Amino acid sequence: MGSWRNSSSGKILWLIIMPLVLIFGFMALKKSNWDIRFVNFYSGVSSVTEDDSAEPGPVSSENLGGLDWRWTADGGGGQMAEAPSPSSSSSSPTITLEEDMDMQQPNVTMEEDNFATMLNGTEMFISTNETHDPSTIVEVQRNFSGLYKLEASLVQARAAIKEARNGNQMNDPEYVPYGPIYWNASVFHKSYLEMEKMLKVYVYEEGEPPIFHNGPCKSIYAMEGNFIFQMETSKFRTWDPEKAHIFFLPISSTMMVRFILDRKSQDHWHPMKRTVKDYVELVASKHPFWNRSLGADHFIVACHDWGPELSKAVPNLFTNSIRALCNANTSEGFKPSKDVSIPEILLRDGTMHGLVGGPSPRQRHVLAFFAGGVHGPIRPILLEHWENKDPDIQVHTYLPKGVSYMDMLRQSRYCISPSGYEVASPRMVEALYTGCVPVLIKDHYVAPFSDILNWRSFAVIVDVDDIPNLKKILMGISTRQYLRMQRRGKQVKRHFEVNHPPKRYDVFHMILHSVWLRRLNARIHGMN
Ligand SMILES: *[C@@H]1O[C@H](CO)[C@@H](O)[C@H](O)[C@H]1NC(C)=O
Ligand SMILES: *[C@@H]1O[C@H](CO)[C@@H](O)[C@H](O)[C@H]1NC(C)=O
Ligand SMILES: *[C@@H]1O[C@H](CO)[C@@H](O)[C@H](O)[C@H]1NC(C)=O
Ligand SMILES: *[C@@H]1O[C@H](CO)[C@@H](O)[C@H](O)[C@H]1NC(C)=O
Ligand SMILES: *[C@@H]1O[C@H](CO)[C@@H](O)[C@H](O)[C@H]1NC(C)=O
Ligand SMILES: *[C@@H]1O[C@H](CO)[C@@H](O)[C@H](O)[C@H]1NC(C)=O
Ligand SMILES: *[C@@H]1O[C@H](CO)[C@@H](O)[C@H](O)[C@H]1NC(C)=O
Repeated sequence: MGSWRNSSSGKILWLIIMPLVLIFGFMALKKSNWDIRFVNFYSGVSSVTEDDSAEPGPVSSENLGGLDWRWTADGGGGQMAEAPSPSSSSSSPTITLEEDMDMQQPNVTMEEDNFATMLNGTEMFISTNETHDPSTIVEVQRNFSGLYKLEASLVQARAAIKEARNGNQMNDPEYVPYGPIYWNASVFHKSYLEMEKMLKVYVYEEGEPPIFHNGPCKSIYAMEGNFIFQMETSKFRTWDPEKAHIFFLPISSTMMVRFILDRKSQDHWHPMKRTVKDYVELVASKHPFWNRSLGADHFIVACHDWGPELSKAVPNLFTNSIRALCNANTSEGFKPSKDVSIPEILLRDGTMHGLVGGPSPRQRHVLAFFAGGVHGPIRPILLEHWENKDPDIQVHTYLPKGVSYMDMLRQSRYCISPSGYEVASPRMVEALYTGCVPVLIKDHYVAPFSDILNWRSFAVIVDVDDIPNLKKILMGISTRQYLRMQRRGKQVKRHFEVNHPPKRYDVFHMILHSVWLRRLNARIHGMN
Protein backbone atom coordinates (compact mmCIF):
# COMPACT_ATOMS: atom_id res chain seq x y z
CA MET A 1 0.00 0.00 0.00
CA GLY A 2 3.00 2.22 0.49
CA SER A 3 3.80 2.23 -3.18
CA TRP A 4 0.63 3.63 -4.61
CA ARG A 5 0.25 6.20 -1.93
CA ASN A 6 3.07 8.09 -3.55
CA SER A 7 1.35 8.33 -6.87
CA SER A 8 -0.87 11.27 -7.51
CA SER A 9 -3.85 9.13 -8.33
CA GLY A 10 -3.40 7.50 -4.98
CA LYS A 11 -3.61 10.86 -3.32
CA ILE A 12 -6.77 11.66 -5.11
CA LEU A 13 -8.30 8.35 -4.17
CA TRP A 14 -7.51 8.96 -0.55
CA LEU A 15 -9.06 12.36 -0.76
CA ILE A 16 -12.22 10.89 -2.14
CA ILE A 17 -12.70 7.94 0.15
CA MET A 18 -11.53 9.45 3.38
CA PRO A 19 -12.79 13.00 3.46
CA LEU A 20 -14.18 12.64 6.94
CA VAL A 21 -11.12 11.27 8.57
CA LEU A 22 -8.92 13.83 6.93
CA ILE A 23 -8.57 15.84 10.04
CA PHE A 24 -5.99 17.91 8.38
CA GLY A 25 -8.47 18.89 5.77
CA PHE A 26 -7.88 22.44 6.64
CA MET A 27 -4.21 21.85 7.20
CA ALA A 28 -2.28 22.90 4.16
CA LEU A 29 -2.82 19.86 2.00
CA LYS A 30 -1.00 21.71 -0.66
CA LYS A 31 2.27 21.41 1.20
CA SER A 32 4.65 19.19 -0.63
CA ASN A 33 5.35 16.95 2.32
CA TRP A 34 1.74 16.28 3.09
CA ASP A 35 1.89 12.61 2.30
CA ILE A 36 4.60 12.06 4.87
CA ARG A 37 2.42 13.67 7.43
CA PHE A 38 -0.45 11.57 6.27
CA VAL A 39 1.51 8.42 6.89
CA ASN A 40 2.25 9.61 10.40
CA PHE A 41 -1.35 10.30 10.95
CA TYR A 42 -2.52 7.04 9.57
CA SER A 43 -0.15 4.85 11.53
CA GLY A 44 -0.90 7.00 14.53
CA VAL A 45 -4.58 6.26 14.56
CA SER A 46 -4.05 2.65 15.35
CA SER A 47 -1.59 3.32 18.11
CA VAL A 48 -3.77 5.84 19.85
CA THR A 49 -6.56 3.38 20.20
CA GLU A 50 -4.26 0.70 21.50
CA ASP A 51 -2.28 2.23 24.23
CA ASP A 52 -1.99 5.75 25.20
CA SER A 53 0.69 5.27 27.77
CA ALA A 54 3.37 3.76 25.64
CA GLU A 55 4.17 7.12 24.09
CA PRO A 56 4.46 5.63 20.63
CA GLY A 57 6.05 7.24 17.67
CA PRO A 58 8.22 10.25 17.70
CA VAL A 59 7.44 11.29 21.20
CA SER A 60 9.33 8.48 22.87
CA SER A 61 12.62 10.16 22.36
CA GLU A 62 11.41 13.55 23.46
CA ASN A 63 12.04 14.80 26.91
CA LEU A 64 9.56 12.68 28.86
CA GLY A 65 11.23 13.96 31.96
CA GLY A 66 10.76 11.39 34.67
CA LEU A 67 9.79 8.50 32.47
CA ASP A 68 13.33 7.66 31.59
CA TRP A 69 14.41 5.69 34.56
CA ARG A 70 11.37 5.20 36.67
CA TRP A 71 9.83 2.56 34.55
CA THR A 72 12.81 0.36 35.21
CA ALA A 73 13.34 1.38 38.78
CA ASP A 74 9.77 0.78 39.71
CA GLY A 75 8.08 -1.46 37.24
CA GLY A 76 11.21 -3.40 36.62
CA GLY A 77 10.21 -4.58 33.21
CA GLY A 78 12.43 -3.25 30.48
CA GLN A 79 10.29 -0.28 29.64
CA MET A 80 13.22 2.01 29.72
CA ALA A 81 12.66 4.75 27.25
CA GLU A 82 15.34 5.89 24.91
CA ALA A 83 17.56 8.45 26.50
CA PRO A 84 16.50 11.82 25.25
CA SER A 85 19.04 13.39 23.00
CA PRO A 86 19.81 16.92 24.00
CA SER A 87 19.60 18.16 20.47
CA SER A 88 16.05 17.06 19.98
CA SER A 89 14.61 18.31 23.17
CA SER A 90 16.13 20.80 25.50
CA SER A 91 17.49 23.02 22.83
CA SER A 92 14.29 23.82 21.07
CA PRO A 93 15.13 25.84 18.04
CA THR A 94 14.20 29.38 18.70
CA ILE A 95 11.44 30.44 16.43
CA THR A 96 10.31 33.95 16.11
CA LEU A 97 6.68 34.81 15.87
CA GLU A 98 5.11 34.20 12.52
CA GLU A 99 5.15 37.38 10.60
CA ASP A 100 2.31 36.98 8.21
CA MET A 101 -0.25 37.60 10.88
CA ASP A 102 -0.52 41.13 12.06
CA MET A 103 0.01 41.66 15.72
CA GLN A 104 -2.92 43.62 17.02
CA GLN A 105 -4.04 44.78 20.39
CA PRO A 106 -7.49 43.65 21.42
CA ASN A 107 -9.98 46.13 22.75
CA VAL A 108 -9.60 44.78 26.21
CA THR A 109 -8.95 46.79 29.32
CA MET A 110 -7.26 45.27 32.28
CA GLU A 111 -8.90 45.50 35.65
CA GLU A 112 -7.14 47.70 38.15
CA ASP A 113 -7.22 44.86 40.59
CA ASN A 114 -5.31 42.02 39.14
CA PHE A 115 -7.49 39.11 40.14
CA ALA A 116 -4.79 36.62 39.48
CA THR A 117 -2.58 38.33 41.99
CA MET A 118 -5.26 39.69 44.26
CA LEU A 119 -5.04 36.71 46.52
CA ASN A 120 -1.53 37.91 47.18
CA GLY A 121 0.17 35.14 45.36
CA THR A 122 2.77 37.71 44.53
CA GLU A 123 5.69 35.83 45.85
CA MET A 124 6.31 33.55 42.92
CA PHE A 125 5.09 36.12 40.52
CA ILE A 126 7.24 38.23 38.40
CA SER A 127 5.61 41.61 38.28
CA THR A 128 4.49 41.91 34.72
CA ASN A 129 3.71 45.02 32.86
CA GLU A 130 0.95 43.92 30.60
CA THR A 131 0.31 45.88 27.48
CA HIS A 132 -3.31 45.37 26.89
CA ASP A 133 -3.76 48.95 25.80
CA PRO A 134 -7.10 49.39 24.18
CA SER A 135 -5.66 50.72 20.98
CA THR A 136 -6.81 48.99 17.85
CA ILE A 137 -10.41 48.75 16.89
CA VAL A 138 -11.21 45.31 15.63
CA GLU A 139 -13.67 45.58 12.81
CA VAL A 140 -16.21 42.88 13.26
CA GLN A 141 -19.61 43.20 11.70
CA ARG A 142 -21.57 41.80 14.51
CA ASN A 143 -23.96 42.82 17.21
CA PHE A 144 -22.36 42.07 20.52
CA SER A 145 -25.09 43.22 22.82
CA GLY A 146 -24.85 39.85 24.55
CA LEU A 147 -21.34 40.76 25.56
CA TYR A 148 -22.53 43.64 27.70
CA LYS A 149 -24.71 41.31 29.68
CA LEU A 150 -21.81 38.94 30.16
CA GLU A 151 -19.47 41.67 31.19
CA ALA A 152 -22.07 43.01 33.59
CA SER A 153 -22.27 39.65 35.30
CA LEU A 154 -18.50 39.62 35.62
CA VAL A 155 -18.60 43.05 37.21
CA GLN A 156 -20.80 41.53 39.89
CA ALA A 157 -18.49 38.59 40.36
CA ARG A 158 -15.51 40.90 40.77
CA ALA A 159 -17.35 42.96 43.35
CA ALA A 160 -18.40 39.87 45.29
CA ILE A 161 -14.84 38.58 45.35
CA LYS A 162 -13.44 41.89 46.52
CA GLU A 163 -16.11 41.98 49.16
CA ALA A 164 -14.84 38.66 50.50
CA ARG A 165 -11.57 40.32 51.42
CA ASN A 166 -13.19 41.68 54.53
CA GLY A 167 -15.61 38.86 54.58
CA ASN A 168 -16.93 36.07 56.65
CA GLN A 169 -16.24 32.50 55.85
CA MET A 170 -18.96 31.00 53.73
CA ASN A 171 -20.56 27.67 54.32
CA ASP A 172 -19.74 24.76 52.15
CA PRO A 173 -20.79 21.26 53.06
CA GLU A 174 -17.85 19.69 51.27
CA TYR A 175 -14.87 21.82 52.06
CA VAL A 176 -14.17 25.24 53.43
CA PRO A 177 -10.72 26.49 52.48
CA TYR A 178 -8.76 27.53 55.57
CA GLY A 179 -5.31 28.04 56.89
CA PRO A 180 -1.94 29.29 55.71
CA ILE A 181 -1.76 27.16 52.58
CA TYR A 182 -3.88 29.89 50.99
CA TRP A 183 -2.89 33.46 50.49
CA ASN A 184 -6.41 34.29 51.45
CA ALA A 185 -8.73 31.40 52.09
CA SER A 186 -11.96 33.40 52.13
CA VAL A 187 -11.19 35.28 48.94
CA PHE A 188 -10.35 32.02 47.23
CA HIS A 189 -13.51 30.42 48.50
CA LYS A 190 -15.63 33.27 47.22
CA SER A 191 -14.07 33.33 43.80
CA TYR A 192 -14.43 29.56 43.60
CA LEU A 193 -18.12 29.74 44.47
CA GLU A 194 -18.67 32.57 41.99
CA MET A 195 -17.05 30.43 39.34
CA GLU A 196 -19.38 27.54 40.14
CA LYS A 197 -22.33 29.88 40.06
CA MET A 198 -21.74 31.49 36.71
CA LEU A 199 -18.78 30.42 34.62
CA LYS A 200 -19.69 29.22 31.14
CA VAL A 201 -17.08 27.86 28.77
CA TYR A 202 -17.63 27.37 25.08
CA VAL A 203 -15.61 24.56 23.54
CA TYR A 204 -15.08 24.92 19.81
CA GLU A 205 -16.47 21.91 18.00
CA GLU A 206 -14.21 22.23 14.98
CA GLY A 207 -11.38 19.75 14.52
CA GLU A 208 -11.19 15.98 14.72
CA PRO A 209 -9.29 13.57 16.93
CA PRO A 210 -6.53 12.64 17.40
CA ILE A 211 -5.20 16.19 17.35
CA PHE A 212 -8.33 17.89 18.59
CA HIS A 213 -10.86 16.92 21.27
CA ASN A 214 -8.33 14.38 22.43
CA GLY A 215 -5.15 14.09 24.42
CA PRO A 216 -3.08 11.71 26.52
CA CYS A 217 -4.76 10.59 29.73
CA LYS A 218 -1.83 8.50 30.85
CA SER A 219 1.87 9.29 30.96
CA ILE A 220 3.60 12.40 32.11
CA TYR A 221 1.37 14.55 29.91
CA ALA A 222 -1.84 13.11 31.33
CA MET A 223 -3.14 16.46 32.52
CA GLU A 224 -3.60 17.55 28.93
CA GLY A 225 -5.97 14.78 27.90
CA ASN A 226 -7.71 14.70 31.24
CA PHE A 227 -8.49 18.37 31.09
CA ILE A 228 -9.71 18.26 27.51
CA PHE A 229 -12.03 15.31 28.15
CA GLN A 230 -13.28 16.64 31.46
CA MET A 231 -13.88 20.09 30.00
CA GLU A 232 -15.89 18.67 27.16
CA THR A 233 -18.17 16.77 29.51
CA SER A 234 -18.25 19.42 32.18
CA LYS A 235 -21.27 21.25 33.48
CA PHE A 236 -19.32 24.45 32.86
CA ARG A 237 -19.57 23.82 29.14
CA THR A 238 -22.16 25.80 27.25
CA TRP A 239 -23.28 25.04 23.73
CA ASP A 240 -24.32 28.63 23.22
CA PRO A 241 -21.22 30.71 22.51
CA GLU A 242 -23.16 33.91 23.15
CA LYS A 243 -23.40 32.88 26.79
CA ALA A 244 -19.73 32.00 27.18
CA HIS A 245 -17.29 33.97 29.29
CA ILE A 246 -14.44 32.06 27.84
CA PHE A 247 -13.61 29.94 24.81
CA PHE A 248 -11.60 26.76 24.87
CA LEU A 249 -9.44 25.67 21.94
CA PRO A 250 -9.40 21.87 22.39
CA ILE A 251 -6.05 21.21 20.79
CA SER A 252 -3.45 18.80 22.14
CA SER A 253 0.23 19.71 21.94
CA THR A 254 1.22 16.14 22.83
CA MET A 255 -0.90 14.71 20.04
CA MET A 256 0.61 17.16 17.58
CA VAL A 257 4.08 16.02 18.53
CA ARG A 258 2.98 12.43 18.23
CA PHE A 259 1.13 12.60 14.94
CA ILE A 260 2.32 15.62 13.02
CA LEU A 261 5.95 16.00 13.94
CA ASP A 262 8.02 15.32 10.88
CA ARG A 263 11.55 14.57 11.94
CA LYS A 264 12.82 14.42 8.39
CA SER A 265 11.77 17.94 7.72
CA GLN A 266 14.31 20.71 8.01
CA ASP A 267 11.97 22.80 10.07
CA HIS A 268 10.20 20.25 12.20
CA TRP A 269 8.16 22.94 13.89
CA HIS A 270 6.47 24.04 10.75
CA PRO A 271 3.73 21.44 10.27
CA MET A 272 2.76 21.59 13.93
CA LYS A 273 2.68 25.36 14.03
CA ARG A 274 0.79 25.36 10.78
CA THR A 275 -1.87 23.19 12.43
CA VAL A 276 -2.27 25.62 15.32
CA LYS A 277 -2.43 28.57 12.98
CA ASP A 278 -4.93 26.94 10.66
CA TYR A 279 -7.12 25.98 13.57
CA VAL A 280 -7.21 29.48 15.02
CA GLU A 281 -7.87 30.91 11.56
CA LEU A 282 -10.65 28.41 11.08
CA VAL A 283 -12.47 29.29 14.29
CA ALA A 284 -11.80 32.98 13.71
CA SER A 285 -13.43 32.80 10.30
CA LYS A 286 -16.41 30.71 11.34
CA HIS A 287 -17.18 32.53 14.59
CA PRO A 288 -16.90 36.17 15.60
CA PHE A 289 -15.41 35.55 19.03
CA TRP A 290 -11.72 35.32 18.32
CA ASN A 291 -11.65 38.59 16.42
CA ARG A 292 -13.80 40.27 19.05
CA SER A 293 -11.11 39.96 21.72
CA LEU A 294 -8.15 38.90 19.57
CA GLY A 295 -7.98 35.81 21.69
CA ALA A 296 -8.01 37.42 25.12
CA ASP A 297 -11.00 35.38 26.27
CA HIS A 298 -9.69 32.16 24.76
CA PHE A 299 -7.56 29.51 26.40
CA ILE A 300 -5.49 26.43 25.65
CA VAL A 301 -4.12 23.70 27.89
CA ALA A 302 -0.75 22.18 27.07
CA CYS A 303 1.46 19.89 29.09
CA HIS A 304 4.02 18.90 26.49
CA ASP A 305 7.41 20.60 26.67
CA TRP A 306 6.79 22.07 23.29
CA GLY A 307 3.41 23.56 24.16
CA PRO A 308 4.81 27.03 24.86
CA GLU A 309 6.69 27.05 21.56
CA LEU A 310 3.67 25.83 19.59
CA SER A 311 1.56 28.62 21.03
CA LYS A 312 3.84 31.07 19.25
CA ALA A 313 2.35 29.94 15.96
CA VAL A 314 -0.29 32.62 16.42
CA PRO A 315 1.04 35.84 17.91
CA ASN A 316 -2.29 36.74 19.49
CA LEU A 317 -2.53 33.32 21.06
CA PHE A 318 0.88 33.80 22.60
CA THR A 319 0.38 37.37 23.79
CA ASN A 320 -3.34 37.63 24.50
CA SER A 321 -4.80 34.23 25.20
CA ILE A 322 -4.69 32.40 28.49
CA ARG A 323 -2.19 29.58 28.14
CA ALA A 324 -2.51 26.90 30.80
CA LEU A 325 0.91 25.25 30.69
CA CYS A 326 2.82 22.65 32.61
CA ASN A 327 6.00 24.36 31.54
CA ALA A 328 5.45 27.69 33.19
CA ASN A 329 8.90 29.00 32.40
CA THR A 330 8.97 32.78 32.73
CA SER A 331 12.05 32.88 30.53
CA GLU A 332 9.96 31.43 27.76
CA GLY A 333 7.28 34.07 27.86
CA PHE A 334 5.07 32.68 30.59
CA LYS A 335 3.20 35.59 32.15
CA PRO A 336 1.74 34.80 35.55
CA SER A 337 -1.03 37.37 35.38
CA LYS A 338 -2.30 36.05 32.04
CA ASP A 339 -1.12 32.45 31.82
CA VAL A 340 -1.88 29.57 34.16
CA SER A 341 0.63 27.15 35.61
CA ILE A 342 -0.80 23.65 35.80
CA PRO A 343 0.80 20.68 37.53
CA GLU A 344 2.46 17.90 35.62
CA ILE A 345 1.15 14.62 37.02
CA LEU A 346 2.45 11.27 35.90
CA LEU A 347 -0.51 8.90 35.68
CA ARG A 348 0.59 5.50 34.53
CA ASP A 349 -2.83 3.95 34.21
CA GLY A 350 -4.75 7.20 33.93
CA THR A 351 -5.72 7.23 37.59
CA MET A 352 -4.14 8.05 40.93
CA HIS A 353 -4.22 4.37 41.79
CA GLY A 354 -1.24 3.43 43.96
CA LEU A 355 0.11 6.97 44.10
CA VAL A 356 -1.69 8.36 47.12
CA GLY A 357 -0.97 7.88 50.77
CA GLY A 358 2.07 7.38 52.93
CA PRO A 359 3.11 6.75 56.51
CA SER A 360 3.28 9.29 59.29
CA PRO A 361 6.36 11.48 59.72
CA ARG A 362 7.64 9.24 62.51
CA GLN A 363 8.07 6.37 60.09
CA ARG A 364 10.11 8.39 57.62
CA HIS A 365 13.78 7.68 58.13
CA VAL A 366 15.37 9.27 55.10
CA LEU A 367 15.92 13.01 55.27
CA ALA A 368 15.76 13.76 51.54
CA PHE A 369 15.35 11.77 48.37
CA PHE A 370 15.79 12.20 44.65
CA ALA A 371 16.29 9.71 41.84
CA GLY A 372 16.25 10.60 38.20
CA GLY A 373 18.07 11.24 34.98
CA VAL A 374 20.76 13.85 34.72
CA HIS A 375 19.36 16.36 32.32
CA GLY A 376 18.65 20.04 32.17
CA PRO A 377 20.63 22.74 33.90
CA ILE A 378 20.02 21.90 37.57
CA ARG A 379 20.26 18.17 38.07
CA PRO A 380 23.97 17.92 37.22
CA ILE A 381 24.68 20.32 40.07
CA LEU A 382 22.48 18.38 42.46
CA LEU A 383 24.08 15.07 41.55
CA GLU A 384 27.57 16.44 41.62
CA HIS A 385 27.11 17.58 45.19
CA TRP A 386 24.97 14.84 46.61
CA GLU A 387 25.06 11.59 44.66
CA ASN A 388 26.30 8.90 47.04
CA LYS A 389 27.71 11.52 49.39
CA ASP A 390 25.56 11.27 52.47
CA PRO A 391 23.14 8.58 53.66
CA ASP A 392 20.69 11.27 54.79
CA ILE A 393 20.50 12.79 51.34
CA GLN A 394 19.56 9.93 49.03
CA VAL A 395 20.31 11.33 45.60
CA HIS A 396 20.62 8.81 42.77
CA THR A 397 20.71 8.65 39.03
CA TYR A 398 19.50 5.08 39.17
CA LEU A 399 17.96 3.42 42.14
CA PRO A 400 19.73 0.33 43.40
CA LYS A 401 18.12 -2.90 42.23
CA GLY A 402 15.09 -3.88 44.22
CA VAL A 403 14.53 -0.42 45.66
CA SER A 404 11.17 1.00 44.76
CA TYR A 405 10.74 4.63 43.87
CA MET A 406 7.35 4.84 45.53
CA ASP A 407 8.72 3.29 48.72
CA MET A 408 11.49 5.85 48.79
CA LEU A 409 8.96 8.67 48.53
CA ARG A 410 7.12 7.17 51.46
CA GLN A 411 10.21 6.70 53.60
CA SER A 412 11.50 10.21 53.07
CA ARG A 413 10.69 13.42 54.86
CA TYR A 414 11.65 15.69 52.01
CA CYS A 415 11.42 14.87 48.30
CA ILE A 416 13.57 16.89 45.96
CA SER A 417 11.99 18.20 42.77
CA PRO A 418 14.59 19.82 40.54
CA SER A 419 13.88 21.00 37.02
CA GLY A 420 14.88 18.61 34.27
CA TYR A 421 14.99 19.68 30.65
CA GLU A 422 11.96 21.73 31.50
CA VAL A 423 10.82 23.47 34.60
CA ALA A 424 7.81 21.22 35.20
CA SER A 425 8.19 17.89 36.91
CA PRO A 426 5.69 15.40 38.29
CA ARG A 427 7.76 15.03 41.44
CA MET A 428 6.13 17.85 43.38
CA VAL A 429 2.76 16.21 43.09
CA GLU A 430 4.17 12.73 43.77
CA ALA A 431 5.58 14.17 46.99
CA LEU A 432 2.28 15.77 47.98
CA TYR A 433 0.38 12.59 47.19
CA THR A 434 2.62 10.51 49.43
CA GLY A 435 2.96 12.93 52.33
CA CYS A 436 6.53 13.91 51.57
CA VAL A 437 7.39 17.60 51.80
CA PRO A 438 8.44 18.83 48.33
CA VAL A 439 11.74 20.64 47.90
CA LEU A 440 11.60 22.78 44.78
CA ILE A 441 14.88 23.60 43.06
CA LYS A 442 13.94 25.48 39.94
CA ASP A 443 14.68 28.66 38.08
CA HIS A 444 12.16 30.80 36.21
CA TYR A 445 9.29 28.68 37.47
CA VAL A 446 5.82 29.72 38.52
CA ALA A 447 4.42 26.93 40.68
CA PRO A 448 0.90 25.66 39.93
CA PHE A 449 -1.95 27.64 41.47
CA SER A 450 0.46 30.01 43.16
CA ASP A 451 -2.22 32.64 42.65
CA ILE A 452 -4.10 30.93 45.48
CA LEU A 453 -1.55 28.75 47.23
CA ASN A 454 1.34 29.88 49.33
CA TRP A 455 3.84 27.23 48.34
CA ARG A 456 6.28 28.19 51.05
CA SER A 457 3.79 27.08 53.65
CA PHE A 458 3.97 23.45 52.54
CA ALA A 459 7.12 23.18 50.44
CA VAL A 460 10.77 24.15 50.76
CA ILE A 461 12.08 26.35 47.99
CA VAL A 462 15.83 26.18 47.54
CA ASP A 463 17.91 28.38 45.26
CA VAL A 464 20.11 26.62 42.78
CA ASP A 465 23.07 28.38 44.38
CA ASP A 466 22.15 26.81 47.69
CA ILE A 467 22.37 23.21 46.48
CA PRO A 468 25.65 22.67 48.39
CA ASN A 469 23.84 23.80 51.56
CA LEU A 470 20.87 21.52 51.00
CA LYS A 471 21.45 19.39 54.07
CA LYS A 472 22.09 22.39 56.29
CA ILE A 473 18.89 24.02 55.07
CA LEU A 474 16.76 20.95 55.67
CA MET A 475 18.35 20.17 59.03
CA GLY A 476 17.70 23.79 59.98
CA ILE A 477 13.96 23.30 59.73
CA SER A 478 12.59 22.52 63.16
CA THR A 479 10.60 19.37 63.74
CA ARG A 480 7.59 21.50 64.57
CA GLN A 481 7.83 23.42 61.34
CA TYR A 482 8.37 20.20 59.41
CA LEU A 483 5.26 18.64 60.94
CA ARG A 484 3.28 21.74 60.05
CA MET A 485 4.42 21.65 56.43
CA GLN A 486 3.74 17.94 56.19
CA ARG A 487 0.22 18.41 57.54
CA ARG A 488 -0.45 21.27 55.16
CA GLY A 489 0.82 19.18 52.28
CA LYS A 490 -1.85 16.63 53.11
CA GLN A 491 -4.43 19.40 53.14
CA VAL A 492 -3.32 20.86 49.82
CA LYS A 493 -3.32 17.42 48.17
CA ARG A 494 -7.01 17.67 47.28
CA HIS A 495 -6.19 20.47 44.84
CA PHE A 496 -3.92 18.14 42.89
CA GLU A 497 -6.14 15.09 42.82
CA VAL A 498 -7.33 13.68 39.52
CA ASN A 499 -10.85 12.30 39.76
CA HIS A 500 -13.13 10.65 37.22
CA PRO A 501 -15.51 12.43 37.12
CA PRO A 502 -13.93 15.54 38.63
CA LYS A 503 -14.76 16.48 42.21
CA ARG A 504 -15.09 19.98 43.58
CA TYR A 505 -11.77 21.62 44.43
CA ASP A 506 -9.75 18.97 42.62
CA VAL A 507 -7.14 19.61 39.98
CA PHE A 508 -9.61 20.02 37.13
CA HIS A 509 -11.51 22.66 39.06
CA MET A 510 -8.33 24.37 40.21
CA ILE A 511 -7.13 24.72 36.62
CA LEU A 512 -10.49 26.09 35.60
CA HIS A 513 -10.49 28.42 38.58
CA SER A 514 -7.11 29.84 37.62
CA VAL A 515 -8.43 30.40 34.10
CA TRP A 516 -11.48 32.09 35.60
CA LEU A 517 -9.31 34.47 37.63
CA ARG A 518 -7.44 35.48 34.50
CA ARG A 519 -10.67 36.02 32.66
CA LEU A 520 -11.73 38.34 35.45
CA ASN A 521 -8.60 40.36 34.80
CA ALA A 522 -9.82 41.41 31.41
CA ARG A 523 -12.81 43.39 30.35
CA ILE A 524 -13.67 42.76 26.73
CA HIS A 525 -15.25 45.53 24.73
CA GLY A 526 -17.35 44.69 21.75
CA MET A 527 -17.97 46.82 18.71
CA ASN A 528 -21.21 48.39 17.91
C1 LIG B 1 1.53 39.93 50.18
O1 LIG B 1 2.75 39.64 49.60
C2 LIG B 1 3.77 40.57 49.86
C3 LIG B 1 4.98 40.21 49.05
O2 LIG B 1 5.26 38.85 49.14
C4 LIG B 1 4.04 40.59 51.37
O3 LIG B 1 5.01 41.57 51.65
C5 LIG B 1 2.77 40.93 52.09
O4 LIG B 1 2.97 40.87 53.47
C6 LIG B 1 1.68 39.97 51.69
N1 LIG B 1 0.44 40.36 52.32
C7 LIG B 1 -0.35 39.47 52.90
C8 LIG B 1 -1.59 40.03 53.50
O5 LIG B 1 -0.09 38.31 52.94
C1 LIG C 1 5.16 49.57 33.58
O1 LIG C 1 6.55 49.76 33.63
C2 LIG C 1 6.93 51.10 33.65
C3 LIG C 1 8.44 51.17 33.59
O2 LIG C 1 9.01 49.97 33.92
C4 LIG C 1 6.38 51.78 34.89
O3 LIG C 1 6.75 53.13 34.93
C5 LIG C 1 4.87 51.66 34.89
O4 LIG C 1 4.34 52.19 36.07
C6 LIG C 1 4.48 50.21 34.77
N1 LIG C 1 3.05 50.12 34.65
C7 LIG C 1 2.32 49.32 35.38
C8 LIG C 1 0.86 49.32 35.13
O5 LIG C 1 2.81 48.59 36.22
C1 LIG D 1 -13.24 49.82 23.06
O1 LIG D 1 -14.56 49.54 23.47
C2 LIG D 1 -15.17 50.59 24.20
C3 LIG D 1 -16.51 50.11 24.71
O2 LIG D 1 -17.24 49.53 23.68
C4 LIG D 1 -15.32 51.79 23.30
O3 LIG D 1 -15.93 52.86 24.00
C5 LIG D 1 -13.96 52.22 22.84
O4 LIG D 1 -14.08 53.27 21.90
C6 LIG D 1 -13.23 51.04 22.18
N1 LIG D 1 -11.89 51.45 21.93
C7 LIG D 1 -11.24 51.11 20.86
C8 LIG D 1 -9.89 51.65 20.72
O5 LIG D 1 -11.73 50.35 20.06
C1 LIG E 1 -28.44 43.81 18.97
O1 LIG E 1 -29.15 42.69 19.47
C2 LIG E 1 -30.07 43.00 20.52
C3 LIG E 1 -30.71 41.70 20.96
O2 LIG E 1 -29.78 40.70 21.02
C4 LIG E 1 -31.09 43.98 20.02
O3 LIG E 1 -31.95 44.34 21.08
C5 LIG E 1 -30.42 45.23 19.48
O4 LIG E 1 -31.35 46.09 18.91
C6 LIG E 1 -29.38 44.85 18.42
N1 LIG E 1 -28.65 46.05 17.99
C7 LIG E 1 -28.36 46.28 16.73
C8 LIG E 1 -27.60 47.53 16.46
O5 LIG E 1 -28.64 45.48 15.85
C1 LIG F 1 -7.81 37.97 53.71
O1 LIG F 1 -9.06 37.68 54.30
C2 LIG F 1 -9.27 38.23 55.57
C3 LIG F 1 -10.60 37.80 56.04
O2 LIG F 1 -10.64 36.43 56.15
C4 LIG F 1 -9.15 39.73 55.51
O3 LIG F 1 -9.31 40.26 56.79
C5 LIG F 1 -7.83 40.13 54.92
O4 LIG F 1 -7.77 41.52 54.75
C6 LIG F 1 -7.61 39.47 53.60
N1 LIG F 1 -6.30 39.79 53.10
C7 LIG F 1 -6.10 40.30 51.89
C8 LIG F 1 -4.69 40.53 51.52
O5 LIG F 1 -6.97 40.53 51.12
C1 LIG G 1 -11.57 37.65 11.63
O1 LIG G 1 -10.40 38.27 11.11
C2 LIG G 1 -9.78 37.55 10.08
C3 LIG G 1 -8.47 38.23 9.72
O2 LIG G 1 -8.51 39.57 10.02
C4 LIG G 1 -10.73 37.45 8.90
O3 LIG G 1 -10.14 36.72 7.87
C5 LIG G 1 -12.00 36.75 9.35
O4 LIG G 1 -12.94 36.71 8.32
C6 LIG G 1 -12.60 37.46 10.53
N1 LIG G 1 -13.69 36.67 11.04
C7 LIG G 1 -14.94 37.09 11.02
C8 LIG G 1 -15.95 36.14 11.57
O5 LIG G 1 -15.29 38.14 10.56
C1 LIG H 1 13.52 27.90 30.73
O1 LIG H 1 13.69 28.85 29.73
C2 LIG H 1 15.02 29.30 29.53
C3 LIG H 1 15.01 30.28 28.39
O2 LIG H 1 14.51 29.69 27.23
C4 LIG H 1 15.95 28.13 29.25
O3 LIG H 1 17.27 28.60 29.20
C5 LIG H 1 15.80 27.09 30.34
O4 LIG H 1 16.59 25.98 30.05
C6 LIG H 1 14.34 26.67 30.41
N1 LIG H 1 14.17 25.53 31.25
C7 LIG H 1 14.56 25.41 32.49
C8 LIG H 1 14.39 24.09 33.12
O5 LIG H 1 14.99 26.34 33.14
